Amino acid sequence: MFDIFEKKESSVRSYCRKYPVVFDMAKNAEMFSESGKRYIDFLAVAGSMNYGHNNPEIKKAILNFLNEDHIINALDMYTKTKEEFLKTFDELILQPRKLDYKVMCCGPTGTNAVEAALKLARKNKKRSGVIAFAGAFHGMSLGSLALTTDRVSREGAGVSLDNVTFVPYDCGKLDSIAYLKEQLEDDHSGVDKPAAIILETIQAEGGINVASVEWLRQIRKICTDNDIIMIVDDIQVGNGRSGTFFSFERANIVPDMVVMSKSISGFGVPMALLLMKPELDIFRPAEHNGTFRGNQLSFVGGTAGIRYFVKHSLDKEVIRKASLIDQYIKKNILPLDTRLSCRGIGLIWGIDFGAINPKFALDCVHEAFDNGLILEVAGRKDGVLKIMPPLTIEDDVLQEGLDIVKKIVAKVLV
Ligand SMILES: Cc1ncc(COP(=O)(O)O)c(C=O)c1O
Repeated sequence: MFDIFEKKESSVRSYCRKYPVVFDMAKNAEMFSESGKRYIDFLAVAGSMNYGHNNPEIKKAILNFLNEDHIINALDMYTKTKEEFLKTFDELILQPRKLDYKVMCCGPTGTNAVEAALKLARKNKKRSGVIAFAGAFHGMSLGSLALTTDRVSREGAGVSLDNVTFVPYDCGKLDSIAYLKEQLEDDHSGVDKPAAIILETIQAEGGINVASVEWLRQIRKICTDNDIIMIVDDIQVGNGRSGTFFSFERANIVPDMVVMSKSISGFGVPMALLLMKPELDIFRPAEHNGTFRGNQLSFVGGTAGIRYFVKHSLDKEVIRKASLIDQYIKKNILPLDTRLSCRGIGLIWGIDFGAINPKFALDCVHEAFDNGLILEVAGRKDGVLKIMPPLTIEDDVLQEGLDIVKKIVAKVLV
């Protein structure tokens, strides 16, 4: 059944090993195999499908665009499509939040926006070091991989991953703010002043670790006090995932740079952006270049996605559904074993098996798949079961998926 994949596709393939089926169709929060078997999607292509698979409003905009023979790819030339995206993003997202960012269209994947942010921060501050956090995931190219903490990913680099100092995240066990301040203030700490501090406000791949508002504000203050650029990586938890369009809104802070990708294109087509405060916009023309920085389908999808987000008040929907998930887990899943714990916000939740046996989380993924549910693991030893449906998931499908989670967790714990 998988002959051609096993014969021809590189061994680096990974998700297909957890979901051994050939997928064909998808609609909102459901995916279908070539034989028509239905799977509820609690992964949302790692946060790329916030507005659902084949969202009809976004699809319509893309189909109209294709039917009219517009230019599809244009490097970074001016196009009507990019103009419309930038205007919509500014009018519907940035201005209402009083955010004054310039927008850099990067190469098409998240890691490229992270690379751009690193380069630009270093160029601005004329310093090479960056501070990142234990548990971070920022991408797989060498600059972003240097910020990424999981061992398997780092071992793939083949060269030393330099210029990064890691600090514990807001995990409750250590006072990482005090530690960070000490590193920056102590003239014998051995840590040079960095160009930037980069963080996810919710570590997704790191195990659904939700930083507290106070912690985020403290990091903002440390950056301001020490002339360090604060970069928020909103690639996975932006676009409404946390209950606000940008994940940092809940802390009422303004990062100096923000990296976005995944759901920013609305339709699941590749796109990545770096947002920066205007005074940081000092790249010379073509200093961070790339062919696919002008994919017009992504701009069309992005424009339609933003309109969809605003028109349907998805932020409010996320908060409503978050409480359904929260209550369900606390009422139905945590009582299955007192050693289970859960963390989450918006539509990203994790059930932590670390105190029992981290391997159980992956067992749940396999069981879930057999029961028609796509789930993923995250965190230390892959011990956290991650729940991350499209934001548009219907209530009954969400309920059905949660019932499967309960069933499979109960089975794995026996
Ligand atoms: C927080 C975060 N940053 C960066 C990336 C890298 O994005 P990409 O895989 O598109 O390069 C990811 C991907 O999962 C991510 O979750």
